[in-house]
Amino acid sequence: MREIELRAEEFELFRRYVYERVGISLSMQKTTLIKGRLNKRLNQLNLTSFREYYDFLVSDESGEELSLFVSAISTNVTSFFRESAQWTWLESYLPALVASKKEKKLRIWSAGCSSGEEPYTILMFLQHHLRDFEEWDIKILATDISSKVLAKAIKGHYEAKNVEALPKEIVHRAFDKIRTENGINYQIAPHLQEKVMFRLYNLVTDPFFFKNRFDMIFCRNVMIYFDDPTRHDLIGRFTTLLPKGAPLFLGSSESLTSHRETLKLLGSSIYQRL
Ligand SMILES: C[S@@+](CC[C@H](N)C(=O)[O-])C[C@H]1O[C@@H](n2cnc3c(N)ncnc32)[C@H](O)[C@@H]1O
Repeated sequence: MREIELRAEEFELFRRYVYERVGISLSMQKTTLIKGRLNKRLNQLNLTSFREYYDFLVSDESGEELSLFVSAISTNVTSFFRESAQWTWLESYLPALVASKKEKKLRIWSAGCSSGEEPYTILMFLQHHLRDFEEWDIKILATDISSKVLAKAIKGHYEAKNVEALPKEIVHRAFDKIRTENGINYQIAPHLQEKVMFRLYNLVTDPFFFKNRFDMIFCRNVMIYFDDPTRHDLIGRFTTLLPKGAPLFLGSSESLTSHRETLKLLGSSIYQRL
């Protein structure tokens, strides 16, 4: 593989573009990371400079290349039942939520859902804790900017090592075992899968088209690359979609310094709409 140099003025082009299109704020220290992660892509495309790649990226109207670019420079790391303290909190919150409902209907948004572990965890959690789970009309909107991770999420097919640490009872009800040439893998069960609507969606530039509000929003470990104004704006838009009392879940390393008048910290990066 040819090693292609990333010049300072080229880095500046990417820095501006990615900020405008995705809200990701790249510091100069990321030069080596971008060069390292994108060299392979340039070689695949038979390009000889980062300037050529920049032109290719901005002219791709499908958004596919932007999605690949974002996957290359950020992380899609996720797991089932990530941030365990939040699931413990949700267990204590669920009875009040159920009691407040006139209809057995729940609408939840997993914003920045990566390969699907988060929305499927929400369903596994609800299946485990709602006795009459089957009677509920539950829809999870699961969105991400990367088509690559969404394709994996839609497939709902996971390696044993990512599933087998979960409680057996949950695994038994949520997955079908499938035999592959690499051994046993796990396929999310159709009755759960059909409750998730996966959509390609850019949280920074796409319009908020939602007609109804959500009972809770998860946006965990997504805003870590955003700068303060972008984060501020997005949180503001989330609050318009949450009814009073509803929770907003962020990643455990994320905290809010703004929106104190509309969101109250309950602990473990869980905020409640006031
Ligand atoms: C580290 S993963 C977090 C996955 C999951 N929420 C969790 O906490 O396990 C971050 C995800 O955010 C997505 N993402 C980053 N910027 C985004 C944007 N502007 N719009 C939508 N999704 C974005 C990435 O593609 C990635 O899949």
